[in-house]
Amino acid sequence: MGATSLQELFEHELGDVYFAEHRLVDAYESFAANTNDQELTDLFEEHREQVGNHIERLVQIFDTMGEPPQEEECQGIEELLAEYEEFVEEGPDANVLDLYNVTTAGKTQRYEITAYESLIEVAKALDNEDAVDLLRETLDEEQETLDRLQEHGAAFDYDSIPA
Ligand SMILES: [Fe+2]
Repeated sequence: MGATSLQELFEHELGDVYFAEHRLVDAYESFAANTNDQELTDLFEEHREQVGNHIERLVQIFDTMGEPPQEEECQGIEELLAEYEEFVEEGPDANVLDLYNVTTAGKTQRYEITAYESLIEVAKALDNEDAVDLLRETLDEEQETLDRLQEHGAAFDYDSIPA
């Protein structure tokens, strides 16, 4: 039988984002390695370090429920990153790849932001205030990273790529 309670939904979604965060450690390492723009490389590396904190906070939340941390395979992130790898393997132009890194990283941030916003609402309904606080800290970092990516996207030199 599938989930029938808020608690079960919460644990499912927590496991999903826990899985996604682990995949994103490697993904952000790839984004950093695949870019020519030093500022972007710094941004990707900074966020990669933050992901370590995100994972740590998720472990703490599982702890508040007396549960061992458990990954729930997240095919959404898997497929998004598989598509990214395929695009990179085809050998795109360096400037195209810079822009594609920003786009793909932005997609992962949107995914996580929605996941964390939903988890916060469910944690509130479950009166798990410790979880709400921890999830909000991560959500702020996810949002800040998305804002910075969007600034890069807006400031990107589109003339550097043939139309
Ligand atoms: Fe994250």
